[in-house]
Amino acid sequence: MSAVDITVVEDAAEAARLVAQRLAEQARAGGNIVLTGGSTPRHAYEIAAELESDWSSVELWWGDERCVPPGDQRSNYGMAKAALLDRLGVAPAAVHRIQGELGRDDAVAEYRHELADVAEFDLVLLGLGPDGHVASLFPNFPTLDITSRDVVGSESGYEPFVERISLTLPRLCNTHELLFLATGEDKAEAVASAFAGPPSPATPGSLARAAEGATRAILDRAAAAKL
Ligand code: 6PG
Repeated sequence: MSAVDITVVEDAAEAARLVAQRLAEQARAGGNIVLTGGSTPRHAYEIAAELESDWSSVELWWGDERCVPPGDQRSNYGMAKAALLDRLGVAPAAVHRIQGELGRDDAVAEYRHELADVAEFDLVLLGLGPDGHVASLFPNFPTLDITSRDVVGSESGYEPFVERISLTLPRLCNTHELLFLATGEDKAEAVASAFAGPPSPATPGSLARAAEGATRAILDRAAAAKL
């Protein structure tokens, strides 16, 4: 597994600022950016919109989604819309959201079709669950072993317990850069397992590494406490 270039900063605000700078930089350069869900990236998205308002050379994707409508507060798209998209001066060239409201199987089929023309991503942003999950790939789930498909559906292994749609590991890792963002002491165990432990399906974060590109992690002190 390729090494992870880890940056540890004082707190969550500083971590958000660094991720925002990287997103804004990629927005200027253009290309395919994959966003993550959860709560941690919200502030980074807000700052990224301030740093760069013109995302017209970007195509946006999501690493995973919950099977809920886009207006639902559990929607990863909904969070990014409020924190980033609604604050941009010039919208992305394309916004490829996962249509969770279609239900698992139809949403998987639809997103697989949408991904068919994209070879690799330029920047994939991933969070990390306290249990070590990434995107909606949960510890010891069979979806971790799927290498022949780009998109999978599954039950949820972590809250919110709604069905999930996720890019598979090989698809997430087919990127120029894979960037993790994790903050807070509740992530310290998962961070240690994901970045300092052996690759294991018990910690999906330990299996997520850019296939040929760079893998980086931006952590605050609390999340890095057990490294
Ligand atoms: C999801 C996310 C998931 C997230 C982690 C961390 O849909 O839940 O994509 O992989 O990144 O659960 O979430 P927090 O940032 O809320 O801790």
